[in-house]
Amino acid sequence: MPKHQKTYVTKADFMLHGGDYNPDQWLDRPEILADDIKLMKLSHTNTFSLGIFAWSTLEPEEGVYNFEWLDTIIENIAKIGGRVILATPSGARPAWMSQKYPEVLRVNESRVKQLHGGRHNHCFSSVVYREKTQQMNRLLTERYGKNPALIMWHISNEYSGECHCDNCQQAFRGWLKEKYKNDLQALNDAWWGPFWSHTFSDWSQIESPSPIGESAVHGLNLDWRRFVTDQTIDFFENEIVPMRELTPDIPITTNFMADTFDLIPFQSLDYSKFAKHLDVISWDAYPAWHNDWETTADLAMKVGFIDDLYRSLKQKPFLLMESTPSLVNWHEVNKAKRPGMHLLSSMQMLAHGSDSIMYFQWRKSRGSSEKFHGSVVDHDNSSENRVFKEVAKVGETLEKLSDVVGTNRPADVAIMYDWESNWALNDAQGFGLSTKQYPQTLQEHYRTFWEQDIPVDVITKEQDFSNYKLLIVPMLYLVSEATIARLKVFVAGGGRLVMTYISGLVNEHDLTFLGGWHKDLQDIFGMKPTETDTLYPKDKNTITYQDKKYEVKDYATVLDLATATIEGIYQEDFYENTAAVTSHSYQEGKSYYIGARLDDQFHRDFYQTLIEELALKPVVSSKHGKGVSVQARQGVESDYVFVMNFTEEAQQIAFDSSLTDLVTGEIVPEQLTLKQYEVRILEQPRK
Ligand code: GLA
Repeated sequence: MPKHQKTYVTKADFMLHGGDYNPDQWLDRPEILADDIKLMKLSHTNTFSLGIFAWSTLEPEEGVYNFEWLDTIIENIAKIGGRVILATPSGARPAWMSQKYPEVLRVNESRVKQLHGGRHNHCFSSVVYREKTQQMNRLLTERYGKNPALIMWHISNEYSGECHCDNCQQAFRGWLKEKYKNDLQALNDAWWGPFWSHTFSDWSQIESPSPIGESAVHGLNLDWRRFVTDQTIDFFENEIVPMRELTPDIPITTNFMADTFDLIPFQSLDYSKFAKHLDVISWDAYPAWHNDWETTADLAMKVGFIDDLYRSLKQKPFLLMESTPSLVNWHEVNKAKRPGMHLLSSMQMLAHGSDSIMYFQWRKSRGSSEKFHGSVVDHDNSSENRVFKEVAKVGETLEKLSDVVGTNRPADVAIMYDWESNWALNDAQGFGLSTKQYPQTLQEHYRTFWEQDIPVDVITKEQDFSNYKLLIVPMLYLVSEATIARLKVFVAGGGRLVMTYISGLVNEHDLTFLGGWHKDLQDIFGMKPTETDTLYPKDKNTITYQDKKYEVKDYATVLDLATATIEGIYQEDFYENTAAVTSHSYQEGKSYYIGARLDDQFHRDFYQTLIEELALKPVVSSKHGKGVSVQARQGVESDYVFVMNFTEEAQQIAFDSSLTDLVTGEIVPEQLTLKQYEVRILEQPRK
């Protein structure tokens, strides 16, 4: 794809603004529904996700349907020029279904059958649930698929979880038979069968991992996680049959998640696989802004990291499907966004590639567990409160940003994120049991580039990385022969590759490589790691690198050098005066191995050398202090520059030349001051 070509990910060519709208909670209050339409206009919202949890309203009894209310809602939204994202209601079942067909209910890993209740509590293998969801989806597609207001399908909601019922055990065994080509010996080999007498003599003996059964066979654990992803995708594929058949031109998404608190990518499903089945990536972002354990800038960096991962899954704009305009109801402390933070955090999403700002939810529920979750319309039903006004301000701003829609963020730097490697590493009984922290380690490597506004793609192993100047693969614990071969080609062809401690230790079956580190990795790096020491928090060690000292924490790998050059040296312990960081020229390219977990300042200094050597640059150069982020999207003729102050103080930013404010149209001088949490969106025509 040409670098600056636009890609519209939905049927709309403007920034989407709106969110989950649940009028099914308010059908006995026509006055509220009428107010909703007025408030939609006042809040400058334009797009509404409908029917996400509406099954018991759409089909109150088996085979009895009630779509008229939805017809009216869609019609009323369309009358004001609004658009609709229509959901399939499979995220929560009606009670009659659980009662009549108990097979739809999940069995948990302790083999306890779950009761009806909550949501996302169904078996993905259940034939009945698959039939029922597809039947409902067909009715929705037939009725609304040609509606001009419909711009996208929202399939289910935040797919997650797993079921261990007999049907799922059967499906798992079938999946394994296919994977191991009916060869039980191959499975026993891959799972290291004789360990603790775990050799299977019949497929029927295999059970999913369980706290009351098996949990120590790592090959089984890994295959089970892969199966859960595949089975979830298979369920999703079954859901979308009617859409693909009747509305091939309407894009399909499902909303991805993050694991909150630390704000790391969602762990339980391999989104790199799921992404291939979607037309558009969308995700639900609920960062705990203003928390008491990190700075606003630290949290903003983490948001940028996930955005860059989810955008890179399809290398095109993504959608922010849910966020809160104020607070949530499920953080430990549910703090309101301070004035200005809503606009700032929304613009950050756009800066990293989102073409929407959507909320959960439009109108605050009156009852049940989400009645205090932030929303656009509060219980006061007013357009005059602070939160509503901040939403309207975001809406007015988005209306000025149509040129940004569809634009991309080309990058020369890639960091590799691998779900499978993370699963295997977490399973590994070894190293520090709580210090592995794979996603957090990637964030630490990402930080320097974020601080310097240098665009980064966070890619997965199957993606083409041949065109990046710099590829960073921290803690790539699990790696297949195929990936190693591609890394070798990358460096041989002139790429720069950075790898760290705890990389390249097991293959795709979670079996270690025999005979030491992989021969091809030794060729690339000109050395081999021989042992990894795990440090207690009180253990002190440092390395010297380019005449400066840096702290080591958690991990120190001892290296055996062949042709590599020493870049950093351990200062203490039995590996004192040996290599901690190395570099190695391999054919046209160069590789770097960082043997120890080092502090932020090391990353800054280490990557600075590469930034200079490879001439890695921000899209627009500027000078600013810590906590300011200047991110850009690249249009066909202009760059769109988001200047964001993620600190509690005023900040100065100096550009090389003046730029135009895209929202106000005014010329912005080279020296700019941003107040606490202020954001400006500037345009720079490309020379
Ligand atoms: C998730 C769900 C929503 C809602 C929000 C609350 O993202 O998809 O239905 O429960 O959480 O934050």
